[in-house]
Amino acid sequence: MAETILKVKNLYKLFKSNDITANEDVALKLLQEGADAATVLDKSGMFAAVADVSFEVQRGEIFALIGLSGSGKSTIIRCLNMLHTPTRGQILVEGSDITKYNDEQLLELRRTKIAMVFQNFGLMSHRDVLSNVCYGLEIRGMGKAEREAKGMEMVAMVGLEGWEHKTIDSLSGGMKQRVGIARALANDPDILLMDEAFSALDPLVRNDLQFELLRIQEKMGKTIVFITHDINEAFKLGSHVGILREGRMVQVATPEQMLSQPANDYVRKFIDNVDPSKVFSVRNIMVTPSCMIKATDGVNIALQSMRNNGVSSAYIVGEQMHFIGIITLEDALAVRAGKKTFEEAVIKDLPLITDMDTPVADVVELAASAKFPLVVVSEGNVLRGIVSKASILSSFCN
Ligand SMILES: Nc1ncnc2c1ncn2[C@@H]1O[C@H](COP(=O)(O)OP(=O)(O)O)[C@@H](O)[C@H]1O
Ligand SMILES: [Mg+2]
Repeated sequence: MAETILKVKNLYKLFKSNDITANEDVALKLLQEGADAATVLDKSGMFAAVADVSFEVQRGEIFALIGLSGSGKSTIIRCLNMLHTPTRGQILVEGSDITKYNDEQLLELRRTKIAMVFQNFGLMSHRDVLSNVCYGLEIRGMGKAEREAKGMEMVAMVGLEGWEHKTIDSLSGGMKQRVGIARALANDPDILLMDEAFSALDPLVRNDLQFELLRIQEKMGKTIVFITHDINEAFKLGSHVGILREGRMVQVATPEQMLSQPANDYVRKFIDNVDPSKVFSVRNIMVTPSCMIKATDGVNIALQSMRNNGVSSAYIVGEQMHFIGIITLEDALAVRAGKKTFEEAVIKDLPLITDMDTPVADVVELAASAKFPLVVVSEGNVLRGIVSKASILSSFCN
């Protein structure tokens, strides 16, 4: 069941220009009548960075906010943790209006509920990776052993194991942003705010981090508000996408809805830049198999894991996630009854997808005729995910 975790209602953020006669009430009235930012500035001396923006974010989803530079993205995200005080409007986090919070409540909100990841990383270069990740826990007064254990968990989560005692300066941009994400996650916030967090990274690194983020999000079920000016990134990551223009929300929709029913020409122009093969590649729709066992685990673990996950087959991996094959519930039971060996029961002859950037369209037929979800592997036969018929279908529906 979808549950609204964040609700923004009629949000306005106005900035005073140098005009000493600047009048907020005049500006708000003009904006409510639909005036554009230039007119409002001219007639009221107020600059409308955000005007009458409303949207809802469901728990566990990635909501992507997209717009050209200056369209109000950063201003909105800064209102979401009250780094900016909105001029008007409500921001409900789990139903509670944070615009009414006092300083103490805001501090608590930022420590426990909402964390932010910045484009320029915002890391402390004189500290190592681990102590950057643990910083939030440290200022909350958590003991060293406990916070470092938690920190190491997050370091591993973002794929930086072995780097925990390296200095920040020795890291690449992509790694720095992994640290930024780990630090934000360490406080275990419900909501992660990411302001152009990947925009400064080069395309390949960026691709990797997008994938990592999807994986982390799937695993930890965090709610993420993700800002970008790249429509491909928005469509790849966002389950809902909001398009901003000059401080106003033009459309909020799923990527598929936006593609099939753009609200107006402005949206249409934006999505003309969408590269469908990028949006709908295998990488974007594959999921981690819920039932995965090691070859050394044996049949009882396989059965138990299938039972726990309510599925009728298990994916078997060797060292370093090397993909071996599938065992079905039926075969696993036969092995336990002594009717065949584990080795005989493992199905190895399966179609594999070896390039995660394969367009979804290219694997539809293969998936339709396959008995099991398609297995996606990267170089060295490393299991990366599976693609089910259902996920392929839903990538085409709106
Ligand atoms: N503190 C401020 N004072 C005055 N104007 C501001 C301030 N912050 C942002 N703006 C203006 O508001 C508009 C939206 O800015 P911003 O939210 O940073 O856009 P984006 O993140 O989409 O590039 C811009 O025109 C910017 O100049
Ligand atoms: Mg910005």
